[in-house]
Amino acid sequence: MRVSNLFTVVAVALPVFVTAVAISDTTSRSLSAFGKRDTVSTTLTDIENLVTCAACEALLIVLKVLAHTGNDPFVAVITDICIALGVEDADVCTGAIGLEGPILAHDLREMVIGTRTSELFCLTIFGLCPWPAIEAYAVSMSSKPATTRPAPSGQSPLQVVHISDIHVDLSYEEGASYDCTKNICCRPYTAADAPGNNSYPAGEFGEHTCDSPVTLEESLYAAVESLVPDRSFTIFTGDVVEGAVWLVTDTEVTNDLNDAYTRMKSLGQSYAVVGNHDTSPVNSFPPAAVDTTISSQWAYDTMSTEWSSWIGATAASEADSNFGSYSVLTAEGLRMISVNTNFWYKQNFWLYEETMERDPSSQLAWLASELEAAETAGERVWLMGHMPMGSSDAFHDQSQYFDQIIQRFDATISAIFFGHTHQDEFQLSYSTPAAPSAATANMVSYIAPALTPTSGNPTFRVYSVDPVTFAILDYTVYYANLSSPTYQTSPVWEKLYSVKEAYGSLLSPPITDAAAELTPAFWHNLTVLFENDDAVYQDWYARRGRDYSNATCIGDCKTASICGLRAAQSQYNCGVVTPGVNFKRDEADVASAHSDCEGSAIGLGGRRRRGACAAACGVAG
Ligand SMILES: *[C@@H]1O[C@H](CO)[C@@H](O)[C@H](O)[C@H]1NC(C)=O
Ligand SMILES: *[C@@H]1O[C@H](CO)[C@@H](O)[C@H](O)[C@H]1NC(C)=O
Ligand SMILES: *[C@@H]1O[C@H](CO)[C@@H](O)[C@H](O)[C@H]1NC(C)=O
Ligand SMILES: *[C@@H]1O[C@H](CO)[C@@H](O)[C@H](O)[C@H]1NC(C)=O
Repeated sequence: MRVSNLFTVVAVALPVFVTAVAISDTTSRSLSAFGKRDTVSTTLTDIENLVTCAACEALLIVLKVLAHTGNDPFVAVITDICIALGVEDADVCTGAIGLEGPILAHDLREMVIGTRTSELFCLTIFGLCPWPAIEAYAVSMSSKPATTRPAPSGQSPLQVVHISDIHVDLSYEEGASYDCTKNICCRPYTAADAPGNNSYPAGEFGEHTCDSPVTLEESLYAAVESLVPDRSFTIFTGDVVEGAVWLVTDTEVTNDLNDAYTRMKSLGQSYAVVGNHDTSPVNSFPPAAVDTTISSQWAYDTMSTEWSSWIGATAASEADSNFGSYSVLTAEGLRMISVNTNFWYKQNFWLYEETMERDPSSQLAWLASELEAAETAGERVWLMGHMPMGSSDAFHDQSQYFDQIIQRFDATISAIFFGHTHQDEFQLSYSTPAAPSAATANMVSYIAPALTPTSGNPTFRVYSVDPVTFAILDYTVYYANLSSPTYQTSPVWEKLYSVKEAYGSLLSPPITDAAAELTPAFWHNLTVLFENDDAVYQDWYARRGRDYSNATCIGDCKTASICGLRAAQSQYNCGVVTPGVNFKRDEADVASAHSDCEGSAIGLGGRRRRGACAAACGVAG
């Protein structure tokens, strides 16, 4: 994921608009006048007074009126205000609001103000309401048998590669400026950005302010082939498409998906998931029950067609008819379940239905039934998705329902695999989630770092896997050093660290045997070591950020970060909803607040905000 300009623009423009309406004596005032506020700073001062949930809901009433005038006027008004305020470049305002505006207008037209839908809408867009209590819901499952996780087999391990968030930009141009005002650079947005016309010419293999050029993507695949020739298969946890989200169209996304998956076939057998960027507009995954002419079926069609040579016709057909989710048995005898997590993602604005569904598109029910079948068949399962279910991007409700399924099937699922955050990290599930302990830790979500250089050095992971239990025995992260003087002529991929080498001997008892599993208790004990030995934690924090930045994480940042590792249910991740109107917050403040990325993306927008957010809590830019 990235804190998209699209989202930021809408988030900035909406409160500006509603403030203007709210402070005007009459709503009959011409809408176009709202763009003509005396100064931006006056307007921002007004916005800063909007810091309560009740105020947000009052303002939604006004927005709802505007939405009822139709999508076009809604989009036009919000776009005008965005441009007038100069919160983003005019083309970004027009593109972003043009794409996302109709979805927000749809929500607003149906919305009953004062319900949990409007509270959650205020929480996500404005950071102005607290999380409502979780609505109790029991996922239908048979009762849990007395089985436990199998012990490691001791047999010679398999190697499995994990890549994520490749974000390939087919419009990347070597020599285009890497210093721009937009979310991603290295494109000739203007003549001054064009190759030969700027002082910041992009290198051939990628820049920290840009998504991946194809050269970097190809370099990754070549590195996997040469460094891990004996791999059993590769998993890819989503996000093919680049981050210029105000420009993406169905045609571009289709082309991006076709191009990337065609190249990725050079890796041989692979399994992929649907990322939040892998459609247009970004994050737009309407659930089956929503009545709209906007559909992402074309994206499921494209992905399932591309995936069919890996997963076969039956699973590909399931992916096509089941919103990108599928279940397939690998040649090694492992049950691979790939689930579309976008139906639990709070920035999928289709989910803000008049009455929010507990199980949009029945993905939880489908997952539970697949796991029942796997358990009955005595299969081991790997569960893959894009968004980690403990992150603040996951609705608390669906995160809790999802964890019910994990708790029920913890003896059948070997491990869970996600991407999305761009960071090298993990999240733990517990049978006692409110009181995490080594004894009750029962599942690991392995969150892989990204390829895209926007958020650190390009990376991939290699797991050592028990061939019988499919437990994770170790993993090694490989990286290409963006700061190396030879990076732009030929990136060198090398080992950064392995988990057992880095941490195994520091634990008590030490876990260094190659055949020992990295159990949930191992990872919990590592988080305890982080608390007790700050040097170990800071080393881990640097690796988490793909060893690119020098940032440290201390105090509240560290406390919240460790809390997040111990939370596969997002309600326990210590995220704090902060009013989104933090225009005066400077980067130093943001960097010290791990939880700042919760709630709202209203902020300075663009690169500055993204960098601050990434530094603060690793939510990728
Ligand atoms: C470079 O800038 C000049 C002057 O603005 C412009 O004429 C030219 O087209 C630009 N080059 C490119 C490749 O856009
Ligand atoms: C990457 O290269 C730079 C410049 O040579 C060096 O300072 C840095 O330590 C390297 N990073 C890692 C993780 O080795
Ligand atoms: C975790 O730590 C506890 C004690 O704090 C210890 O008994 C247990 O063996 C450790 N487990 C692992 C897997 O390291
Ligand atoms: C890390 O710190 C060094 C020395 O202060 C500085 O030169 C370098 O630019 C920093 N690197 C990053 C990526 O911030």
